[in-house]
Amino acid sequence: MKVLITAGPTREPLDPVRFLTNRSSGKMGYEIAAAFAAAGNSVLLISGPTQLDVPDGVDFLPVETAAEMELAVRHSIDRMDVAVFTAAVADYTPATPASQKIKKSEDRLLIELVKTTDILGSARSTYGFQGILVGFAAETQQVEQYARAKLQNKGCDLVVANDVSKPGIGFDSDHNEILLVYPDHTESIPRATKHDLAHRILQAIAEIPHTKGLSI
Ligand code: PMT
Repeated sequence: MKVLITAGPTREPLDPVRFLTNRSSGKMGYEIAAAFAAAGNSVLLISGPTQLDVPDGVDFLPVETAAEMELAVRHSIDRMDVAVFTAAVADYTPATPASQKIKKSEDRLLIELVKTTDILGSARSTYGFQGILVGFAAETQQVEQYARAKLQNKGCDLVVANDVSKPGIGFDSDHNEILLVYPDHTESIPRATKHDLAHRILQAIAEIPHTKGLSI
């Protein structure tokens, strides 16, 4: 099977030396890419900047901004059987990044932000993707409800939800604790290493009824 995985943070430039980003390390996505590749699948990992080594046997496409990630996904998704969106993509980006370094002057500096493209939300509606679509949901409250709304609104087969307000899991940790949110039920997976959870997520995807020929 051909599998696309997005991972890591994006960086949205404010000026040539500064950017807006988030705390994603890429660990969750890279572990999922490694698990799919180790199981014999063809994997394309589209990733924002991280400190991680690219897993063995994975095709790698590095990007920086949400716009670059969107372009990379748009150009590759129609060749894919499965798409897993673990990336922490910026929801907003500076409207007009300064071409020169912003100099210190007034006490207040207002920066106008504009919405980025919702890449996961575009998969079905804009790119016409018909394969298995797996989103993530990083929430700090009402985790299952928000994840289920994402599942329905974006046409996902599965949403993997994590509570990123809990200490020791989520962003930049080696561990996570997840809910597998399906159209008709939810399964809670207790705290484990991201390595072990990646294999559990692969198994969950392989069990989605119309997944045919997925190597696990
Ligand atoms: O990278 P780690 O340090 O290992 O941390 C893992 C993680 C916490 C980043 C990961 O488990 C996780 O929750 N990833 C999703 C992060 C996120 O941005 O969630 P969200 O609820 O804001 O977005 C929902 C979904 O839409 C996600 O699948 C996201 O990739 C996607 N999205 C969001 C915005 C956007 N413009 N385009 C998107 O495709």
